[in-house]
Amino acid sequence: MNKNLLLLSLALLPATLLAAPPQQPKSEGIESPNYVWNADTGEKKEISKLKGNAERGKEAYQGCQGCHKPSGAGISDGTYPQLAGQHSTVIIKQMADTREGRRDNPKMFPFAGKHVVTPQEIADIAVYLQNMKIPRDNGKGLGTALARGKDLYFKDCQVCHGENGEGNAAKFYPVLAGQHYKYLAREIRDIRDGKRRNANPKMVKVVKDYPDADSEAVADYMSRLLMPERAAEK
Ligand code: HEC
Ligand code: HEC
Repeated sequence: MNKNLLLLSLALLPATLLAAPPQQPKSEGIESPNYVWNADTGEKKEISKLKGNAERGKEAYQGCQGCHKPSGAGISDGTYPQLAGQHSTVIIKQMADTREGRRDNPKMFPFAGKHVVTPQEIADIAVYLQNMKIPRDNGKGLGTALARGKDLYFKDCQVCHGENGEGNAAKFYPVLAGQHYKYLAREIRDIRDGKRRNANPKMVKVVKDYPDADSEAVADYMSRLLMPERAAEK
C-alpha cells in the first residue's frame, strides 16, 4: 500500500467503527466457575446509589416503549416481557446484566446499552416502571394443567417468588404476577438449560429436571397470579 493510501485508510477507520452497530459485550455468567449471582459490583452497584425520578423516567422510557409498550405490558405472546409494577431493584439488575453482558439480549442491546442510555436514566426508568399498575390482561396458558402447576409452584417456587408472585425487592427476586405465559415458560426453560446466564444457581437446581410439560404447567399457574397492591383496577 502506498503511504498516502495508508494514511487515508487510517483516517477513515474511526468513522467506520462508529458506524458499526453496537455489539453486546459478553462477561462471565453461570457457565463460569467464577460466577457469583447478584454480585454487588459494576453498574448494578453504581445505579443502585442513584435516586430515580419517575417524571424523568417517563421521558427516558420512550426509547423502550416500541417493544415494551407505553403501558409497560409488552406483548401478550411473550416476545416482549411485561415490566409494569416490577421491582425497581430487579429492573436495575436486569439492565446492568444486559449492559455488561451477563444476560444475552442482542435484540434489545442497541436500545439499552451504555451508548444510548445513561445510568441515571436507568434509575429513573426503574422507579417509573415500578409505580405503574400491573395489567390483568396478560397472556395466559391453555388452563389444562393448573392443578399440577399449583402443586409445583407451592412445592418449588413459592419460597422465593411468594404466594402471589410478588417476589422480593430487597433480594432482587422478580415479580412474576401478571407476566405473560409464553415469556415465563421460555425463561424457565432458558434458566434450566443454562441459556439465561445471569440465573440464580439455587433456582437452576430446582428446575434442572423439569420436563417441558411441567415448565408449562407452572408457567400457566403463575400467569394467573395477582399481586393486589400493584394490580390495575378491573
Ligand atoms: C427491540 C425491542 C426492545 C427494546 C427497544 C427494549 N427491550 Fe427490554 N427486552 C426485550 C426483550 C426481547 C426482552 C426479553 C429477553 C428474553 O427473552 O430473555 C427484554 C427484557 C427486558 C427486561 C428484563 C425483564 C425481566 O422480567 O427480567 C427489562 C428490565 C427490560 N427489557 C427493560 C428495557 C428498558 C428499560 C428498555 C429501554 C431503555 C428496553 N427494555 C428496550 C426487547 C426490547
Ligand atoms: C432460590 C430462590 C428461587 C427459587 C426456589 C425459584 N426461583 Fe425463579 N428466580 C429466582 C431469582 C433470583 C430470579 C432472577 C434471577 C436473575 O437475577 O436474573 C428468578 C427468575 C425467575 C423467572 C424469570 C423472571 C423474569 O422476570 O424474567 C421465572 C419465570 C422463574 N424464576 C420461575 C421460577 C419457577 C417456576 C420456580 C419453581 C419451579 C422458581 N422460579 C424457583 C429465584 C428463585
